[in-house]
Amino acid sequence: MKNTKKVLSIFLSVLLLCSAVVPAGAVSVWDIYWSDTEEAARGIIMQPGKDESERNFSWYMPESVTDCFVEISLNPLMLSSEKIEGDVTDDRHGNNVAKVTVSELEEGKTYYYTCISGDSRSDVYSFETVAGDSFSALYMSDIHITLNEETGDTKDTAFAFADLLAEVTLKHDINMILSAGDQATDGLLTEYQGLTFSPLSRSLTFATAIGNHDRKGIAYKYFTNLPNEDEGMISSPQGGNYYFTKGEVLFLVIDSNNASATDHRNFIKKAVSENEDLKWRVVMMHHDLYGGSIEHRESENELLRMILSPIFDEFNIDLVLTGHSHHYSISHVLYNGEIAQELENGGTVNNAEGTVYMVSASVGRARDEEGVYSERIAIGMEDFNDKLYNIIDFSEDAIKVTSYERGEGEFASFTLTKDDDFDAPEISFFRKLIGQLLGAFGTIYAFFNNIGRYHDLTEDGFNVDFFETVF
Ligand SMILES: [Fe+2]
Ligand SMILES: [Fe+2]
Repeated sequence: MKNTKKVLSIFLSVLLLCSAVVPAGAVSVWDIYWSDTEEAARGIIMQPGKDESERNFSWYMPESVTDCFVEISLNPLMLSSEKIEGDVTDDRHGNNVAKVTVSELEEGKTYYYTCISGDSRSDVYSFETVAGDSFSALYMSDIHITLNEETGDTKDTAFAFADLLAEVTLKHDINMILSAGDQATDGLLTEYQGLTFSPLSRSLTFATAIGNHDRKGIAYKYFTNLPNEDEGMISSPQGGNYYFTKGEVLFLVIDSNNASATDHRNFIKKAVSENEDLKWRVVMMHHDLYGGSIEHRESENELLRMILSPIFDEFNIDLVLTGHSHHYSISHVLYNGEIAQELENGGTVNNAEGTVYMVSASVGRARDEEGVYSERIAIGMEDFNDKLYNIIDFSEDAIKVTSYERGEGEFASFTLTKDDDFDAPEISFFRKLIGQLLGAFGTIYAFFNNIGRYHDLTEDGFNVDFFETVF
């Protein structure tokens, strides 16, 4: 059951250890998967479905292949399997992309799957569904899979991410990945193929937010298969917002490249109204609001605070997970930009009257700059450390975030709890009105910003559609 991934990660770790003692330049375990080029080129990603009973799959196929299926079974030999047909999308760059949603999954099971593209079948992978309301996720950001121009591939960053997944799955029983954007550096298909080449990434539900680097190309839009997508009036060229539920958590994933706060508010309002009974609301997006650790980014932070924090206050968001600054920080409980309750390392906040904003560091891409925290930050690090990851334990009773320094162990944690009869604060009419006015200005800005993006993408040689890009 839950040990399927652990067995795989132990096996991979032993191979990694073996490869560490052989001379430099020798083949590593990841090279074995990398050299299976047909499999690596598929770029298989398994993303959340609308709830735990669904998973969304996506992968690349040659242009000549026009049908796709996920074959799924509770048996590792694929006995008594079921085939689910998907849709095929043209990625505007000579490939077809398969999009398959598998539904009616049962709780607490291990499933095995293979992706079928015409006559060709992928290897068999497995994943687990959660039983009940408790599950754990790896949260990190800014993986930045990067095309190395000297070698012509993404092996160095892709292997580093695979190493992280092997370490994390060996030490923790996780069910999903929460990745807060900048999965790739130039938004290229080859980078997303590098992101997903290892079997570990195909065994975990991989929830991604779009970062500013993901929108440098257009592959992110085709590579992903997201549930409950909402493009609103003004979406970014590569996609929109989406939400899903898991246990007692409503996950709201926002495209923070898009300044149209009116769209974000409408999206959150709809998702919350459809899921009012769930205890927890968690936003994931790329840009940080309160990290404030990089001086020249403070104006961007300020703008996002003005247009987004009224929405998070209005809809009583418990936790906002971000990245972008590449500098780790956790805020106090904030409401209207002020400290509503203090948060301490190792402590618990019961009935938070506001939101905790967290920035995870980059995986493998530390900045070489001075960082300064604002007084709103409760927990931070002096260094721009790139050897970090976070495990979030979600349950009906609590959200516990624990941060680990790779090779060193745990260094920070906090827990949020909430009484069933807790009444969250209500935003004032005046602040809601001001927030909506500012949000409308953000929408106008987003329209012109998208025209600029269309121009840039066209100049860079990407085959984009004006109406799809700007609206
Ligand atoms: Fe980044
Ligand atoms: Fe970024």
